[in-house]
Amino acid sequence: DTPVLVHSGQGSVWSCASCHGEAGEGAGITPRLAGMPEAYLLKQLEDFANGTRLNESMQYVARGLKPDDMKELASYYATLPAPLINVPSSDANLARGEVLFHQGDWKQNVPACISCHGSQGEGVGASFPPLAAQQAEYLFSQLSAWKGGHRHNSPQNLMDDIASRLSYEDLYAVSYYAASL
Ligand code: HEM
Ligand code: HEM
Repeated sequence: DTPVLVHSGQGSVWSCASCHGEAGEGAGITPRLAGMPEAYLLKQLEDFANGTRLNESMQYVARGLKPDDMKELASYYATLPAPLINVPSSDANLARGEVLFHQGDWKQNVPACISCHGSQGEGVGASFPPLAAQQAEYLFSQLSAWKGGHRHNSPQNLMDDIASRLSYEDLYAVSYYAASL
């Protein structure tokens, strides 16, 4: 069953589909929700509501949700199939991204992304979200937010540390590579 909030919203809550798409596929800097782990989605909604994660639209939306709505929406989106997305990017950019993703960059103290996000970027358990088939621009926006000090909700500042050690060029390369998986 589709929760009513997905398509129609209610009160101060805008419909999720108006930004995240009818199938939860996302677009540009708006993430796909389809097929993301339920516990991860729930954590993000709680983080937006309590201000640990900052985003004007999502804070407005999340603060209008009751705890049961959050659970229902997280469980709904987790069951939808992840979309196939098309990632236009140059070969050189993807090649650099591939190295970072699988090997990291030890000169800059950056571990391989696969050590936490899974060998194919499929995510691991409830805490490490998938990066594969996520919107490329969204991945880049989040890495830039950590690098710039605007996102702070990663356990133990793991992502803050990683993003701060890479250049914007590298963050861009790894975002497009991960999205293409
Ligand atoms: C991010 C859920 C409505 C725009 C997110 C995330 C979740 C979520 C779980 C984080 C995903 C992740 O970390 O991978 C929902 C639900 C909605 C809803 C359940 C309906 C109740 C909306 C609406 C908008 C919107 C109406 C546009 C006005 C965004 C944007 C982000 C986001 C731009 C990325 C935020 C950032 O850069 O940190 N949403 N959303 N969402 N959502 Fe929503
Ligand atoms: C979240 C990218 C390496 C742990 C994320 C997100 C991105 C990302 C884009 C946000 C996903 C979303 O909002 O849906 C990367 C890249 C890596 C990398 C490109 C390699 C350069 C790692 C490593 C670890 C890690 C090595 C563990 C030591 C986490 C955790 C989260 C996360 C725990 C969830 C944060 C939260 O709860 O909000 N990563 N990651 N990542 N990453 Fe990484």
